[in-house]
This record gives sequence, structure tokens and C-alpha cells, in this order.
Amino acid sequence: MTMSTDIINKIKGKGILAPMLATTDIPFRTLCKNEGAALTFTEMVSAVGILRAASTSYRNAVFTPDEHPIGIQLVAAEPDSAAAAIRELLPFKPDLFDINCGCPNDRICEAGAGAELLDDLPRFTQILRAASDASPVPVSVKVRMRGNDTRQTVRDIVRAAEDGGVALITIHARTRNTPYDEAARWEFIADAVNTVSTPIVGNGDIFSSADAFRMLRETGCTAVMVARGCLGTPWIFRDIDSGHDSGIDEHAPEAAAMLAMTVSHLESMLREFGAFRALPRMRKHALWFARRFHGAADLRSQLFAKDDPAALIDAVRNFFADDRHRLATDDPLLIATERRFRERVLYWTTGIVQPEG
Ligand SMILES: Cc1cc2nc3c(=O)[nH]c(=O)nc-3n(C[C@H](O)[C@H](O)[C@H](O)COP(=O)(O)O)c2cc1C
Repeated sequence: MTMSTDIINKIKGKGILAPMLATTDIPFRTLCKNEGAALTFTEMVSAVGILRAASTSYRNAVFTPDEHPIGIQLVAAEPDSAAAAIRELLPFKPDLFDINCGCPNDRICEAGAGAELLDDLPRFTQILRAASDASPVPVSVKVRMRGNDTRQTVRDIVRAAEDGGVALITIHARTRNTPYDEAARWEFIADAVNTVSTPIVGNGDIFSSADAFRMLRETGCTAVMVARGCLGTPWIFRDIDSGHDSGIDEHAPEAAAMLAMTVSHLESMLREFGAFRALPRMRKHALWFARRFHGAADLRSQLFAKDDPAALIDAVRNFFADDRHRLATDDPLLIATERRFRERVLYWTTGIVQPEG
């Protein structure tokens, strides 16, 4: 059995949870898996951090026995550090190691890792080759588009990835400089599918099961990876699983069930991280969950005024208990909120952007 068939056999569905820094921790991965995510990834873990025995890096690589199948995502600038970090993490027994070659963050790119590797395909291949040789479990890679968006570059990238021996290639169909408000270019995912035999996972702008099925149809990819589209809306995986190919929020819970889901998630973050570290994550997730309901802006100011997790959970309880209604899909407030959320998800909850401003 090849490494590709090994991992494909373990993925029992079409919807994969994307790696997301400071977001895809154990509680959120568990929630998404319970909602039907067929594969999940850890937040990115620095290979150098692992080799220096940095506690944050180790913490980000930890998962529970219930989480399989799961991939540990590594960010590495050199073949040796990629291979050594994999050897160090083998006792964790992930189903997959993923190499992040798409991160556009300046600090990561200046260190020669992430999307920077797409400008040096020989080194990109060497890193993937070193990782594949060091790993008894399949290795995957996550890439973006490069530079001037030509079809040739995507073909070069996926061929270079295949030369590196990877079992799966995820393509986030944007370049390093494409902002989130520009649509992902799914046609490049189709190009990748037509170029190599390695299974391709498509990524970019999946916000409903209708989007997921359209990407599967239009590109021929093996599965889709969802990042922003599951923040506060993890049932998107259930929607995808149930095969509704025109589906939007088919399994979205009403207020009472949202309260149960949100509170349970906030409590699991509190158990996992303790009050001090959990609080910023709890605020973020509470607002993601509440954003499509009437009055979310008021909740937002309340949550930023709380620095006690119990008080934060109480505010969320009061919010949803108060006969909340979902905003209608054509409500201008919801449309504006979703646009801001999608463009500025990383800053959305920090006070830099007023979601409903
Ligand atoms: C909050 C956040 C954190 C992210 N962190 C990572 C990461 O650690 N590793 C990675 O490969 N991509 C990361 N990404 C990129 C996503 O995995 C994904 O490729 C991108 O958001 C496009 O998918 P989407 O259109 O479904 O959001 C992150 C994205 C977001 C929104």
C-alpha cells in the first residue's frame, strides 16, 4: 500500500479541518471532529522549536487518542530540522506530518520557511524528501500559489512536491500576497489535479457545503479543507458529510442548542488551558459563535469588559437564553458582518475592526 492510499483510506469524508494557529487546539479539533471533520491538523509547530525543546512547540503538537486521524503540522526551513523534528515527534504517533509551505507571515518567511520555500523549489523538494525519508507515516504539504499566478507555477510546485515523496498536497489557491477579500483561484487546484497523481486537497473560500461540492466538482480534488468557514460554524462538516450539495447551514443549531455548544466549548478551553491562557481564545470563539445572531455587537463589548472566565460564560448564557434569533441570510447587518469576518478574521475580535461598523 502506498503512503497516499494509507492516508486516503483513513479520511472517511470530504471535509478536512485546516491547521490554524492559536485556533485548532484540542478543544476546537474535537468539536470539529464530532461535527464530522474527516481529518484535522494541529496548529503549526516550529521544527526548530521542537529541537530546542520549547514548551509551546511541544504543547501545540499534543493531541488526544480520540483525535485520529490527525496530522501534526510542522514549519521548517531546512531538511535536517524537518527530519529531526519528525523523529522527535514520532512517539506522538500522528497519522500524518504536514509541512507548512504556505504561511505568508513575514517572520516565518524571513527565516526561510512557509511560503518563502515556494521561491526555491529545489530546497522545497529537499525538505519534503528529508521529511518523507524520516517518517514512517505519510507526509503531506500545504502550499499556496506563487508569484505571478501562472498555471506553470502551480504545475511546477506540485511536481516538486511529488518529487519530495509526499502522500497528499493541499493547495490554498491564493498567493502569499493575495488578501482574503480576493477570491481563491480554484482553477489552479484543477490544474494541480491534472498535473500529478498525488491526491490534492483543495482549500480557499469554502463557507458552505454548497461551496464544498462546487469545489469538488469543478476541480476534481480529493477532499476540501475548511479554515474560516468553520469558525463559529463547525456544523459545516456535518453539512458536507450529509451530502447536501446545495447546503448552507443545514445543521445550524437554534439558540438553545447554540448555547449548549458554545458553553461546552468554552468550558473545554478553560479545562485545557486554565483561566489566563483560555480567556483570549474563549472571547474569540464566543464571538465567532454569536456573530450571526441579533445583538452580537453588544455581546462583543461585554466580553471585552470581562477578565473572568466564569463571568464570560455567564454573559454568553444570558445572550443565548434571551430568546435570540438568527439574522436572516439577506439581513444587511449579517452580510456586512460576514464580509468583515472573512476579510479580517485574524483581527476581527481584537477591537481593531468593528464587525458591524
Ligand atoms: C486564524 C488562522 C490561522 C491560520 N494558521 C495557519 C497555520 O497554522 N498553518 C497553515 O498552514 N495555515 C494557517 N492558516 C491558513 C488556513 O489554513 C487556510 O489555508 C486559509 O485560511 C484559507 O482557507 P479558508 O478560505 O477556508 O479560510 C490560518 C488561517 C487562519 C484564518
